[in-house]
Amino acid sequence: MARLLELVLNGRARVDAVPDNVLLLDYLRETVGLTGTKTGCDGGECGACTVLVDDRPKLSCLTLAATVQGARVDTVESLAQDGRLSAVQRGFHEKLGAQCGYCTPGFIMASAGLLRRNPRPSDADIVAALSSNICRCTGYVKIIEAVKHAAELHARGVAP
Ligand code: FES
Ligand code: FES
Repeated sequence: MARLLELVLNGRARVDAVPDNVLLLDYLRETVGLTGTKTGCDGGECGACTVLVDDRPKLSCLTLAATVQGARVDTVESLAQDGRLSAVQRGFHEKLGAQCGYCTPGFIMASAGLLRRNPRPSDADIVAALSSNICRCTGYVKIIEAVKHAAELHARGVAP
């Protein structure tokens, strides 16, 4: 059965007819065409599919689209504004937090969610917030440096 899904996606209200069994990940990538959200393990293990639902990180591969009825959903495409990178995007770029980049949208969204909840995270807060995300290229030191740099940029007024 399909139903009308109403949500605010990346700041814009939209309505789509969505079958009950469609995953949020597939809705975003295939119905809407937002391919920044990545399919990794497709089983809740890697975090590549992380998006924000009402500012909380969610694994979109484990989330039915129908369950975000009425919610605000933000994907990585929402972050840059008028050609300017967000604090977290700049953090990853300037501190070399990405190599192949496949995991990066998920890390960025988990980090953006952290800074929205906690603008001054400790190292332990960052490690905990990224504990659902796996990177097989960088090691995690650069990623943690990237999020710390993002927090500094955010403190100077750059949106997370
Ligand atoms: S694709 Fe969702 S956790 Fe790996
Ligand atoms: S940068 Fe390649 S998997 Fe993380």
